[in-house]
This record gives sequence, C-alpha cells and structure tokens, in this order.
Amino acid sequence: MKLIHTITELRKVLGQHHSPAFVPTMGNLHDGHLALVRQAKTLGDVTVASIFVNRLQFGPNEDFDTYPRTFEADCTKLENAGCDVLFAPKEQELYPEPQTFKVLPPPELADILEGHFRPGFFTGVCTVVMKLFQAVQPAHAVFGMKDYQQQMVLRRMVQQFNMPVAMHTGATLRANDGLALSSRNGYLSETERAEAVQLHQALQGLAHATKAALQRGELNSHILQGLEAQSMAKLNERGWQTDYLTVRRRHDLQAPKFSTETDEALVVLGASRLGKTRLIDNLEF
Ligand code: PAF
Repeated sequence: MKLIHTITELRKVLGQHHSPAFVPTMGNLHDGHLALVRQAKTLGDVTVASIFVNRLQFGPNEDFDTYPRTFEADCTKLENAGCDVLFAPKEQELYPEPQTFKVLPPPELADILEGHFRPGFFTGVCTVVMKLFQAVQPAHAVFGMKDYQQQMVLRRMVQQFNMPVAMHTGATLRANDGLALSSRNGYLSETERAEAVQLHQALQGLAHATKAALQRGELNSHILQGLEAQSMAKLNERGWQTDYLTVRRRHDLQAPKFSTETDEALVVLGASRLGKTRLIDNLEF
C-alpha cells in the first residue's frame, strides 16, 4: 500500500489509473470500514482510502480533540484489506487557509435529524468530501449505511454538482448482539457496551410496532408520534438521553404523510447518548 500525504503526489500516482474507487474515513478503523474497502476493490482499478479527522464537521463541544487517532493500526488493517493507496493529508494540506468557501446542503435534508442536533455538521462533511473528491478524482465512492443521512446528503451533492462519481452504500456491520460497529463504540465502558445494543433493539421495536399498526390500517401521524415517544421514553428510562427515534420516508427523510396508500419505503433512525457517547443507528423496513 502506498502512503501519500500530499495532493500533488496523489495526483501523480492516481494519474496512471482510470477508475479509482474511494473510501473516505476519519480513521480508527473497524471491520465496517474494511468491508467498505473490500467493496471498493470490486469497483475500480485502484482502491484508495483516506484518513482525515475533519475539524469542520465537529461542533465546538464535540469530540474533535479526543477523537481516537490510531494511525499505525489503521495502516496495517488497510493493507490487510487490500487497499492500494492511503491518502492521509495533514490539516495544513487540506486546509492551508481558513476554508471560507463551503458546500451548503439544503436545509430540508441537512438541518433535520443529525443536522438539527449537530448544526453545521453536513456543511463540514460536504465541504471535506468535495475537497477529497477533487484530490482523489474517484470514479466510485463507498459510504456506510450506518450514516444513513450522510450518504443521502452526499448522493444529492454529487447529483446536483454533476460530479462524475458513482456513489455506493455499504451495509452496516454489527457485533453479535446487534450493536452497529462504530469508531465511537470504543468510548463505551464495559457496562455501557452491554447496554449499547438497546439502541438497535429500540429501533427494531419501533419498526415492528409501526409495521403492525400499518397492517391493521391504524397508522396515522398522531399514532406514529405516540409510538416514537413511547420508544424514546423506554430508552431514556434506562438512562439514555435520546435526541431522536423516528420513522421517516427513505427517499427524503421526511415524516410519512399517510394521506394516500402508505406503501412508501420507510426507515427508522435513532441517535442517543449513553454516558458521554453519542450513538446513531438505523433500520430500513
Ligand atoms: O463518515 C465519516 O467518517 C466522515 O463523515 C467522512 C465521510 C469521512 C467525512 O469526514
């Protein structure tokens, strides 16, 4: 695996290829990331990963400074997964001056759910991904399904800017008990780790209750809000602090309307804090 720190060198190396497949990451890699790398290997003629902890997408009270940086271990994992090129720019390389031009995603998609609780998050994500795409010029890019809203926002960005990148989504990998793999799982104490699966279970419970009410022909916005509130209360009674547990239409992440036939594809999404760790997860149903 070639390790590259500058855009100039990256362009030189990738110039010999015509279809780079790219997996952007912030490092602290787990099997979920490596599955994305393996997926990328089936797509292009060279597989590129990046590691860059992007200051721009962290809020002032978030974990930018403490975000786990495990560069040596990440390199070994990427190499073993068959990654060909690792782009690991220093902050100075990607942001040599204050980033005053930014990508502003549409509020109806980016100021809801994660964007509501993490203002500016998707502007930070879109801006860095735009910059990384300019550097790598990938033909394919692979993002994880666990960050459901992120991959939707980025797909929309690519579409609206006519960027010549085929966007792919990789399935969420889960531990044996169902907890979605995440770099932030490393923050959990042993007791919290045992508890953490409850977020997945709450999503399953809400999806199940929603489906059952739909099948009985009883579902409307009021009933759905009640089901969401009940699931949040149950999780919070166990000591979680929940930002949202909600059922949305898959195609635009808005609440289902139930005005016509409700056979719209749905997804349940959740974000909740266990101790100091904020976890997110989702399930399509
Ligand atoms: O999902 C992530 O790890 C980050 O948001 C990304 C896409 C690498 C941008 O910094």
